[in-house]
Amino acid sequence: MKLTTELQAILDGEKGEVLSKVAKTLVKYGEIFGAEEMVPVTSKYNHLVTSFGLKALGPVYELMDQLIESGNLSTQQFSCDPRPLDKNVPSNFLLDFIFKNFMYSRQDFYEGQLTKLGLKDKNAFTCACYMDEVGNKPEKGDILSWAESSAVVYANSVLGARCNRNSGIIDLMGSVLGYVPKFGLLTDEGRKATWVVEIKTTKKPEAQLLGSAIGMKVMEEVSYIKGLDKWLGTELDDAACTYLKDFGAATASNGAVGLYHIDNLTPEAVESGVALIAEGAKTYVIDDAELERVYREYPVIWKNKDAKPKLCFMGCPHMSLEQLKSWTDKVEAGLKATGKSKVVIPTVFTAAPGVLEAFNKTEYAARLKATGVITSYICPLMYMNNPLAGKMPVITSSNKLRTYTTARYYTDDEILLQITGGAK
Ligand code: F3S
Repeated sequence: MKLTTELQAILDGEKGEVLSKVAKTLVKYGEIFGAEEMVPVTSKYNHLVTSFGLKALGPVYELMDQLIESGNLSTQQFSCDPRPLDKNVPSNFLLDFIFKNFMYSRQDFYEGQLTKLGLKDKNAFTCACYMDEVGNKPEKGDILSWAESSAVVYANSVLGARCNRNSGIIDLMGSVLGYVPKFGLLTDEGRKATWVVEIKTTKKPEAQLLGSAIGMKVMEEVSYIKGLDKWLGTELDDAACTYLKDFGAATASNGAVGLYHIDNLTPEAVESGVALIAEGAKTYVIDDAELERVYREYPVIWKNKDAKPKLCFMGCPHMSLEQLKSWTDKVEAGLKATGKSKVVIPTVFTAAPGVLEAFNKTEYAARLKATGVITSYICPLMYMNNPLAGKMPVITSSNKLRTYTTARYYTDDEILLQITGGAK
């Protein structure tokens, strides 16, 4: 690794032992992946993935203390993944007892550390930090030090920023040093597609299902997707961005995708087109039958496969304002069709605190509340990590939640039928 004089001095301890250790860690990490230089983080804000004050994270709290006490704070302010607890979400005495005593008992303490380190504001807890209402939206070409997989794939693909899929500690270190090693998705070569995906479905594919199919096929490789502009259009409007948010999260969690290009739609594909496709790229064709196959092969790991769902989580990744509004319309219409006045399964829609604030100022908020749907800023995955929640029959249309927990996946239409009492 070739280092600038400034970085070499940091490494040699000129700015103290703690920052020297941070720099050494990042340099070693980069060298493992063949990086030849360190490049400055250029985004206005950073985003940290570790948002939960888990009792078992003692070494992280020690590391944070060392950084704070030595004055090595984050070089930019940052947003953070969602909080793990919210009293609005249905719970019970035992669940709460485990959450508070065995799981997130250090939440307040950890949030105190995050604030000292450079948390943007007390509302900056969301995985969808790039929403306008949150304000952490990198520019095209920005170099980032992020780790949240759903946000990394969105920033790379939809915004054209550059970020590798880092771990939580690496994103923290990159944010403190203000530099990251240049390799992988930070390079032009690493952003080339080694897969061409051809969409040949007869209707708009379900975002979370399509993302799952592609993720499981290409794993960590980059894909160039043709035929999706037919369904999404050629403009990155609210609807297309919302679709890509959910699609990308599924590619990133069902596989390990950090970047995809959509022909005629995402910024680099619009700019360079098929020149982004690497020589010898493989092809994957997706039609209705392929999506059906992927869906049917998901394992159902509920003890009783016919159990009546006890809870429904929507919004993993966090919902956009447009999604909250369109789902309000859908739930109302669904209830009207079934003749019911409220949802028949406790249902939680999750979104960023800033998005919820904006939503609450619209006439949709009272309408959604009247349907019985609850809104929250929680991370459903952190809720499901409670062993008692893991035993509950929970449904979702999030393929990330399906992958990491016992929650059962249904398409958006199926979820709507279930929560409005229209499912057979
Ligand atoms: Fe976001 Fe938590 Fe899902 S961080 S993507 S809501 S698992």
